[in-house]
Amino acid sequence: MNGGPTVLVTGAGGFLGAEVTARLLAAGHRVLALLHRNGDIVRNSGKRLKAPQGSLTRLTGDITRPGLGLDAEQLRLAAGADRIVHCAGITDFGLPAQLYQDVNVTGTENVLTLARTHGTPLVHVSTAYVAGERDGTVQEDELDVGQRFGNTYESSKLRAETLVREAAGDGLPVVVIRPSIVAGERRTGQVRDYKTLYPVVRLITKGRVRTIPGHYDALLDLVPVDYVADLIAEAATRFEDARGRTLHAVASRPLTLRDLSDVLAEYPSFQVARWVPSSVFSEDALPVGERLCHERVISLYTAYMSRRIRFDNSGTVAFSRFPVPVGGPPYLRKLLDHGLKTGYLGAPSPGTAESVLITAGEGGTA
Ligand SMILES: NC(=O)c1ccc[n+]([C@@H]2O[C@H](COP(=O)([O-])OP(=O)(O)OC[C@H]3O[C@@H](n4cnc5c(N)ncnc54)[C@H](OP(=O)(O)O)[C@@H]3O)[C@@H](O)[C@H]2O)c1
Repeated sequence: MNGGPTVLVTGAGGFLGAEVTARLLAAGHRVLALLHRNGDIVRNSGKRLKAPQGSLTRLTGDITRPGLGLDAEQLRLAAGADRIVHCAGITDFGLPAQLYQDVNVTGTENVLTLARTHGTPLVHVSTAYVAGERDGTVQEDELDVGQRFGNTYESSKLRAETLVREAAGDGLPVVVIRPSIVAGERRTGQVRDYKTLYPVVRLITKGRVRTIPGHYDALLDLVPVDYVADLIAEAATRFEDARGRTLHAVASRPLTLRDLSDVLAEYPSFQVARWVPSSVFSEDALPVGERLCHERVISLYTAYMSRRIRFDNSGTVAFSRFPVPVGGPPYLRKLLDHGLKTGYLGAPSPGTAESVLITAGEGGTA
């Protein structure tokens, strides 16, 4: 049985939560995994989490409800946790505003009530995009500077982080981690969930979307899931060193949309979209199929296609023992290669050398 501190992880079945849970267990912690609708904890590799005997306790709850919706016995266990890592949240875009309020804001309030009642140190998972539609460099200690938001997800995460800061001001020990856009594993590109920008890339590469409002010098910060999970687990483990900090979990180099276009163009099987200024873009002028793709998917992400935003991560670099991922085009190629390998981005076209062989009759059946 593990003898380390006990950590309550909300959202333990999620993309980040599952990887955080795995790391905490590997570091010798006991984990109380708060699960919601989905009772499974599946790693980014697609495999079910394996936990040493007696080290993992599954709780079923709902953070929108008082006491996190736990029964009396489960609440007693949660009250005894040495730390809380709050990963649960609504991350999909385009849902009713009330859902973001209930889960991201009221849910965080309920987690804070538990933490305050028992003085439990809290690692809160926010997002770098609490910065909203600002341009320029965002510092880790900046929060509400009157920014506008790209969507209700971002504004709900700002309200949640504000509540966490207020609790810190009242003496609750907290660390805030702000990931940018979380994507596949840094070495292999492997990803469990094709969410956030993946569907956008898929529509572009399949040629179903050819024109998108945006700027070629807009910046997208994609960060590997393994690095973000390492950092969250490290903050929970070395809590006293991180206490009071807000840490940007970002890559060394963001991608410009020019980088994205250039890298997509390297792949023979991919189509590449054009970014045009929003002043000349008209959804109504698009062919019906493309217009539907815009309405249902692309429009949810266009705010990300025009921000020239960078996230300073000096505090993270000073705190963490994990090297900051490189990001930029080399990382994007890993993500695309993985998408091709799994078929998510279609089958790869044969490269030039292979095409020559096929033409010469050596590549397959006649
Ligand atoms: N993924 C990103 O790119 C990204 C970037 C920046 C920040 N973040 C932040 O990182 C955190 C984790 O994100 P993720 O990508 O791991 O998201 P995710 O895969 O969608 O996981 C979210 C988890 O929250 C749980 N949850 C939702 N509603 C709940 C409720 N009412 N009560 C209890 N649990 C509930 C979900 O459980 P069920 O599925 O069972 O409902 C799920 O396990 C979030 O706070 C998010 O804002 C994510």
